[in-house]
Amino acid sequence: MKRKVLITGGGGFLGRRLAQEIDWAEEIVLADITLPDESSEEFRHISADVSNPADIDRIVTSDLTDIFHFGAVVSSGAEADFDLGMRVNLDGTRQLLEACRNLPEPINFIFASSCAIFGSNGGHLPSDAAARPESSYGVQKACGELLVNDYARKGFIRGVSCRLPTVVVRPGKPNLAASSFASTIIREPIHGRRAKCPVNPDSSLWLGSVKSVVTNFLKAHQIAESGELPKYRAFNSPGISLTVREMVDALARTGGDTSLIDWEPDPKIDAIVSTWPTALDVSSELALGFEVDTDFTKIIEDYRKRYAE
Ligand SMILES: NC(=O)c1ccc[n+]([C@@H]2O[C@H](COP(=O)([O-])OP(=O)(O)OC[C@H]3O[C@@H](n4cnc5c(N)ncnc54)[C@H](O)[C@@H]3O)[C@@H](O)[C@H]2O)c1
Repeated sequence: MKRKVLITGGGGFLGRRLAQEIDWAEEIVLADITLPDESSEEFRHISADVSNPADIDRIVTSDLTDIFHFGAVVSSGAEADFDLGMRVNLDGTRQLLEACRNLPEPINFIFASSCAIFGSNGGHLPSDAAARPESSYGVQKACGELLVNDYARKGFIRGVSCRLPTVVVRPGKPNLAASSFASTIIREPIHGRRAKCPVNPDSSLWLGSVKSVVTNFLKAHQIAESGELPKYRAFNSPGISLTVREMVDALARTGGDTSLIDWEPDPKIDAIVSTWPTALDVSSELALGFEVDTDFTKIIEDYRKRYAE
């Protein structure tokens, strides 16, 4: 069977990295509201807005076999513009699922959810913690997960959600995620530039590398395809829990100049970040073969090798 993969939000950070790792598809389409400056010969880029039904009809074609749904207004963006967040993250996800429901065969549908669905709930959460989001973004991702679960339960799709930790180290410009600083405080000093840290050094974060997160998306895809899914079709992509101070210490150990970090508290960012869990029990995901990072220093060194040498 010819495999054709659609990645919504495919012009973004994770979409492009995932596309590079998919070696089992004949065709990969990256759909996004923003097109890259240089069009990649490897992949087809299509301009499409997942909140626009006409665009969805254009991208959800009858020959599709797999969708990774990454297109989203990220955390600070969804908090700043409530209507846009609801339109893209909630209505767009529902419209995309409806279009998939109308395809001749159920296709694999992997949804990028977030640990923001939990709310802080005391920091360290068990694997079956209830979704109690404390931000509009978290609410929209939690609703998306519920929809994916129900469309899968009904047999309309082979769907699964993957809840991501904060992914570090993000190259290039920051996006509107409240967690962007977690990459900025590592990336900018590596390139000899100043960086602002908007939260207290004792704040804890749940972190994952791009490599582990992309590997875990592919694992979730494999599980969706096998059909051997848990009753509630969502996984916590494993992460590691570190304080901001521990992150900065790791930067120092790899030779980064930590004096380039300016500690400038931003109550708006702190208010969002403090609603996220700081660690999750991922033992069942690890038993299924999901990957976890072991060392934050290695994450920094991998970034340096790929982008700074
Ligand atoms: N990176 C992280 O730390 C992290 C953590 C948790 C969840 N996630 C989720 O993973 C997914 C990918 O995140 P990312 O880090 O690559 O973010 P990103 O901002 O780099 O990519 C998201 C892409 O979605 C696109 N987009 C926005 N509105 C759209 C619309 N209406 N239609 C189509 N595309 C649209 C953006 O243009 C962007 O290119 C997102 O759904 C995000 O919520 C990311």
